[in-house]
Amino acid sequence: MSNESQPQTWSQRFESVLHPAIARFNASIEFDIALIEYDITGSQAHATMLAQTGIISSEEGSQLVAGLEQIRQEYRQGFFHPGIDAEDIHFAVERRLTDILGEVGKKLHTGRSRNDQVGTDTRLYLRDQIHLICQRLRQFQGVLLNLAEQHIETLIPGYTHLQRAQPLSLAHHLLAYVEMAERDCERLGDVYKRTNISPLGSGALAGTTFPIDRHYTAELLGFERVYANSLDGVSDRDFAVEFLCATSLIMVHLSRLSEEVILWASEEFGFVTLKDSCSTGSSIMPQKKNPDVPELVRGKTGRVFGHLQAMLVLMKGLPLAYNKDLQEDKEALFDGVKTVQACLEAMTILFQEGLEFRVPRLAAAVAEDFSNATDVADYLATKGVPFRESYNLVGKVVKTSLAAGKLLKDLTIEEWQTLHPAFESDIYEAITPRQVVAARNSYGGTGFDQVRQAIAAARSRLSVE
Ligand code: ARG
Repeated sequence: MSNESQPQTWSQRFESVLHPAIARFNASIEFDIALIEYDITGSQAHATMLAQTGIISSEEGSQLVAGLEQIRQEYRQGFFHPGIDAEDIHFAVERRLTDILGEVGKKLHTGRSRNDQVGTDTRLYLRDQIHLICQRLRQFQGVLLNLAEQHIETLIPGYTHLQRAQPLSLAHHLLAYVEMAERDCERLGDVYKRTNISPLGSGALAGTTFPIDRHYTAELLGFERVYANSLDGVSDRDFAVEFLCATSLIMVHLSRLSEEVILWASEEFGFVTLKDSCSTGSSIMPQKKNPDVPELVRGKTGRVFGHLQAMLVLMKGLPLAYNKDLQEDKEALFDGVKTVQACLEAMTILFQEGLEFRVPRLAAAVAEDFSNATDVADYLATKGVPFRESYNLVGKVVKTSLAAGKLLKDLTIEEWQTLHPAFESDIYEAITPRQVVAARNSYGGTGFDQVRQAIAAARSRLSVE
């Protein structure tokens, strides 16, 4: 059903056909074919409205809707392959409709322009994608929560400046990413609000002479409201910028987690083992197991940032209203959607079945450093020594212990009491990694009780979705 031989669709004003290379350059059909079902749905709403308002007869309206439905089926069954000469998906569908219906097909475009049409299609597409991405974020959160539940009492070194700082519940660490994903969903929900506005009926730029009903088409298509200004309606792409901004932040979060997994999987950290289902080997070094999944996620993050940047630059110099530059919004959006979906899926699988935390190794890691030094200072502070004074004192202990090749737990009670008479034998319990973590029970802290409450709160948020 290719229409290669047919001339272009625009008016008789043109005397000759486009140069073939220019036709290819101008065409968007190769990528905007992805909008076909939204284009059909949008056109069905438009045709229904044309009949409802008496602009065309109801018989014509029904024929248009049925003809459009036939094209949908042809596409789904793999029979609809518009060529470059169709220019874009809007012309392709309209042309096929006219093939099917004859003269009636030519009435579809009454009171409409491709400018408001493409804006409508893109918004319908993005609405669905926002839902799908949110679903994937929810699955990702679910997998992290399951893992967190298994590792409430598994301890992991916590870092600042990538230096050992204080030990953490591993669950607490994982829950930080659940929170990020929560904000990501919220942000997408916000983008949705500004995507869910109908530009249909804005015409080319100024509205139309026909007595159309924009509210009716908006209602048929499930839009929350309509653009109040036709110029703004056809030329606004804020929603696309916002979407790419929200997806860029999703990628920031996935990329940070990826970086951690890559570090954790290294010989130097050794905190996780990657399973065979989610890692690859080297073609030359037989001992290697590479963290390709998080590396790719980290790498693909730049692509999504690039699309955001491209979209911002695309918009900054555009005079009102529609300009062909806007055709460039689609590949940025499509690739942004595809990339973020693929990365979310891969990271969900990685955390579901692709890695295992090396619990004994983690336990050893938190036991062999000075990450309990703050707790010694806190211990003295609770015994009435001003915190800054106890902090300085512990600094000295760390220095002398380091020089002696000892850890804080190795100091004798006499040594502690020489440092300060307030030390008693309960200092040993206070500085075990487990107690160090358990004691951080302030709201939002890593204390086990806090972590259990945080898991329960996250679970109930997920269940009301
Ligand atoms: N393919 C075009 C796009 O993606 C559709 C709108 C064309 N409008 C126009 N006035 N040439 O933006």
